[in-house]
Amino acid sequence: MATLGVNIDHVATIRQARRTVEPDPVWAAALAELGGADAITVHLREDRRHIQDRDLEVLRSTVQVKLNLEAAIAPAMIEIACRVKPDQVTLVPEKREEVTTEGGLDIVTHRTATAEAVRRLHEAGIAVSLFLDPSPRQIDAAVDLGVAAVELHTGCYANATTEAERHAQLAELSRAGAMIRQAKLELNAGHGLTYRNVVPVARLEGMGELNIGHSIVSRAVLVGFSQAVREMKALIG
Ligand code: PXP
Repeated sequence: MATLGVNIDHVATIRQARRTVEPDPVWAAALAELGGADAITVHLREDRRHIQDRDLEVLRSTVQVKLNLEAAIAPAMIEIACRVKPDQVTLVPEKREEVTTEGGLDIVTHRTATAEAVRRLHEAGIAVSLFLDPSPRQIDAAVDLGVAAVELHTGCYANATTEAERHAQLAELSRAGAMIRQAKLELNAGHGLTYRNVVPVARLEGMGELNIGHSIVSRAVLVGFSQAVREMKALIG
């Protein structure tokens, strides 16, 4: 059965809109756990547009489930990860001008820098997941790097505008998922998943962690955080 990683970045986005102290993503993490979250995910971006260093540090000492940190392969970010020691680091691409993570990390082009980040994280005892497009070249490279997990980017599936396109994107995710499982890596997925589109992805064979942020936080504004997490957990289960 797929598990649920709740990404709480956008709780911090609301706080940063006023540069104040509320709402606190640390409180949201506690409520997400009460709603059944299997993991808490945060992205400490280089521009600190939402999650702040303080959030990561407090979360490290309060989160009782798995803490998953999304980070760029930049040495400064890896240094923070090695010091704070989340349970898992998911390496993601990062561009300052983007609204959200737009694609998977290209570990074929950035092989040397990725390998160095993976080496440092492994040395610190942290499990590594790579956020990748469902491309065989990228998955082969991930297997070579010896990481524990791959998170498939589900953005193209989520953005599909026709049933035929959605079906084709799901088939790609399914093929990539099979490669990941065959290589004995953990299969995770995320990006753009919502209460309406999550079920087919949750049903892919061997699906592990689904990382979902925007949709859960959006619902939480209206129904409360634990309730929003409970409803998503019921769908993916
Ligand atoms: N997984 C990764 C690697 C991400 O970068 C993001 C966005 O921060 C998500 C999952 C969650 O995406 P969404 O907010 O669209 O659910």
